Amino acid sequence: MDGFKTIIEPFKIKTVETIKISTVQERKAFLEKAHYNPFLLDSDQVIIDFLTDSGTSAMSDKQWAAMMQGDESYAGARSWKKFYEAVSSLTHCKYVLPTHQGRAAERILYGYLGGKGKYFISNTHFDTTRANIEFSGAEAFDIPIAEGLIPEIDYPFKGNMDVKKLESIIKEKDAENIGAVILTVTNNSGGGQPVSMQNVEEVSAICKKYKVLFILDCCRIAENAYFVKHREASQQYKSYRQIAEDMFKLADGAIMSAKKDALVNMGGFLALKNEELANACKNLLIITEGFTTYGGLSGRDMEALAVGIEEVFDPHYLHYRIKSTAYLGDKLHAMGVPLMRPIGGHAVYIDAEKLYPHIPKHQYPGQALVCELYLKGGIRAVEIGSVMFGKYNDVGTLITAPMELVRLAIPRRVYTQSHIEYVIEVFEKILKDKSSARGFKITYEPRFLRHFTAHFERLPS
Ligand code: F0G
Repeated sequence: MDGFKTIIEPFKIKTVETIKISTVQERKAFLEKAHYNPFLLDSDQVIIDFLTDSGTSAMSDKQWAAMMQGDESYAGARSWKKFYEAVSSLTHCKYVLPTHQGRAAERILYGYLGGKGKYFISNTHFDTTRANIEFSGAEAFDIPIAEGLIPEIDYPFKGNMDVKKLESIIKEKDAENIGAVILTVTNNSGGGQPVSMQNVEEVSAICKKYKVLFILDCCRIAENAYFVKHREASQQYKSYRQIAEDMFKLADGAIMSAKKDALVNMGGFLALKNEELANACKNLLIITEGFTTYGGLSGRDMEALAVGIEEVFDPHYLHYRIKSTAYLGDKLHAMGVPLMRPIGGHAVYIDAEKLYPHIPKHQYPGQALVCELYLKGGIRAVEIGSVMFGKYNDVGTLITAPMELVRLAIPRRVYTQSHIEYVIEVFEKILKDKSSARGFKITYEPRFLRHFTAHFERLPS
């Protein structure tokens, strides 16, 4: 903005929501009652909620106004037409299936394509993506590039897929057994890191060569487009929207959790180019979500989504969004907090293994940090490490995740600069007291997606 270095929020606040302020003593009791799992806390017990950027956006006045025009007709609603137009013009997909959120689209597509003997390949499958694939009986391979697994190294596109590995897995498993190749942009579980246009082109070419279906998990594609424009020379003269469209042109379809870059609180879709596949999925949509012109959404949801998916490409918004996330990350980095570099689009990922070298991986250093953040500052964050991705081998030994990260996911258009300054101050305390943090053991866990409901016990020091 006219040469000033301060980046302001490019919006004014019209409605406010009260934050309940708690004391350390109160939070101690809340956390104990929640079995040391922040997913089990009440939102009123949280001061700054960085659990997720999903469904937590503040909608604009234009989105709220659009909601008043929701046409709630069962079939062929005006709102469906707006939604369809917005999604198909962006994704270049003729067939659009509205779902209540991303995982419903995953269940439909990957449930249909999956099953025993099928394989899916991704830069990194998000947890619900992997769970839907594995639930079908299929196997999921994560093949991020090597740089993507080293938190501290600076590399412009750490979200890229290893295309050599992609080709060798397709050859090894036989193309007809590959359910789909999925590029997650940005790569959420891999640190919110972007995927380059070149990588999308290479993945697309391999998928075409072997006639394998290529799907974009596009829930943060606008944020990804920002990085592409500013880091990939060949893309610098395109608009953010054009970059996103060009990525969609290279894929056979897309799944979107609209709760991220479509700036809505609920919603998603499956978009496809192939009629036969779309028809098979539509049957499943009708059985499990709803009729084809609303799926899992009400008319007003489709209205808000149609507006949000355009708003997100506003250059002032995207600049503020990416730079404000980087502001938090860069400040923490300068203070000596070990974290994933460079800073991703929607979140800052702390390297808990490095922060707490005295806590072994099987005692979940990420969970320790998540609990410290809550106790010290009422900040709720999520562990993305061996709690989320840990598995047991045949004899019940924990196979730990490659990285022990903690994600500070930043809701869109919700928190102001002073909220962020507060978070930075809490981290000063985290650093000061780091040697007293303790590990955890799991005392209860379900079979799938254990991090949501697991119970923990703090280990003695
Ligand atoms: N794919 C990615 C990359 C995601 O980040 C998510 C959700 C989904 C799919 C599933 O979408 O939640 O609408 O069913 N991520 C949220 C998060 C939950 O906190 O990162 P959903």
